[in-house]
Amino acid sequence: MRHRKNTVVIAGATAATLLLAACGGGDEGGESAGGGEGKTMRLALNQTEEHPSYIALDNLGTYLEENTGGWDIDVFPNETLGAQAEALQLVSDGSVDMAIVSGTQLENLNEDFVVFNLPRVFDDVEHQMSVIHDPEITGDLYASLEESNNITVLGGFTQGARSVYSSAPIETPADLAGQKIRVQESELHIAMAEALGGAGTPMAYGELYTGLQSGVVDAAENNEVSYFTQRHYEVAPYWSYTNHLVGLDYMIINTDLLESMSEEDRAAFDAGWTAAHEEHTQLWAEATQEAIDGATAGGATFSEVDDAAFAEPLEALAAEFITTESQQALFDAARAAAR
Ligand code: GCU
Repeated sequence: MRHRKNTVVIAGATAATLLLAACGGGDEGGESAGGGEGKTMRLALNQTEEHPSYIALDNLGTYLEENTGGWDIDVFPNETLGAQAEALQLVSDGSVDMAIVSGTQLENLNEDFVVFNLPRVFDDVEHQMSVIHDPEITGDLYASLEESNNITVLGGFTQGARSVYSSAPIETPADLAGQKIRVQESELHIAMAEALGGAGTPMAYGELYTGLQSGVVDAAENNEVSYFTQRHYEVAPYWSYTNHLVGLDYMIINTDLLESMSEEDRAAFDAGWTAAHEEHTQLWAEATQEAIDGATAGGATFSEVDDAAFAEPLEALAAEFITTESQQALFDAARAAAR
């Protein structure tokens, strides 16, 4: 509903129109093309309104508004509907309709998701997007949470390559000895922090700025876009290019809600979602460069690491965390798709 394109219109609207809009409420359903009821879906996001994910999702809302009878999306940024672990639960019980959650969250519901959270499984963003939007590879995985959790995975947005940042530059794992590295809530990523040379402290994304500032953690790892939009460079000004993994965010939706869409609206929804993740990938490279420039202007320093020193401990994680045939099959399929 809070679509960028509408901003101008709203600015010029009379008080009466605004009042009507407020009374009408965004959640009023509309008649959809196929005769079913649409609604404004609430989507939980933990990023700012400047982040490519917000922009692509807000545009998806506009697309649905224009191409279905009554469906729309209201994106709630900055964890306003809860941090990702809560958002996942809320989508499952239907009190929130959709969310963007990191792969690490889904690994806690079905261990097969761990495969795509591994360091070095994806070579780059293009490789990652080709794998995660290939239904031959991901069809069963994405449907696997429907019965157990009432959640459908639709695909995802890249998190780009993630690297470490702290209060001093890092060259080898030894430089992180004794440092607490904030990680996402994931067993794999706790082990990954050790492989990087430090100790993993799981923490929600929204708590990290304060965590770094107060010294609860010494370091963190993320992409440049998050480093900049969350202003982490202010409290951890040394970025070191470990490039330890290409991270992945999933788009999830409440299964009952998805199944309530008419065939026509579902087709429009799928087409809109494809356009949204393609737009996100396009925005990503640009946003990354802007983030590097912005953080540098804000006092951050970006430096290279000794790649060879990190390679072996990071690659060893695959052997440790791939323990089932289905995980191995996903890993092999992902690697076979590498160029
Ligand atoms: C990235 C990612 C988020 C994730 C965050 C984190 O910003 O896009 O989904 O929550 O990293 O490290 O927690």
